[in-house]
Amino acid sequence: MKSYFILDCPAQQKIADSLYGYYVGITANKEIKQFWNHLSRKEIQKYFEIPNNPCRAWFHSMGLQVRDMSFTITNEFIQTNIHRDAPPVIAKINFPVLNTRNTYNVWYDDNTKEIDRVECDRPIVLRSDILHTVEMGAKARYPRLQFSFCFYNEPLHLLK
Ligand SMILES: [Fe+2]
Repeated sequence: MKSYFILDCPAQQKIADSLYGYYVGITANKEIKQFWNHLSRKEIQKYFEIPNNPCRAWFHSMGLQVRDMSFTITNEFIQTNIHRDAPPVIAKINFPVLNTRNTYNVWYDDNTKEIDRVECDRPIVLRSDILHTVEMGAKARYPRLQFSFCFYNEPLHLLK
């Protein structure tokens, strides 16, 4: 099984702009204090109800039904460490939104030996049930914002 698969996404910039606009709206009156920020059912629904939403169109084109949506923030105070995501999901989609250049998804085996890495500048299907982290390169900029989605019909076949 692969650690990741880079997705073809002609509307990448449009989707990133749409997600960024949404992020600005939902965080306008709150301070983000942790790496992982889960969205509520209502917030997810509200995002996908936006007319002409390019992200909805993209998932629809791949036949994917969104189950959960979160965003991750990295800055001078917030980072993540090597971890496995909670089950049962294995194949998530990470979508780069802001300052993801020079940042990397890195995967490890059970002995914490690095087995794979990819720069986070394109959307990927990623395997989240094995050890992984986000690594900031020397030239990375803050804040780094990425959205993460999981699905009722997870795209496991893309990791085969
Ligand atoms: Fe993770």
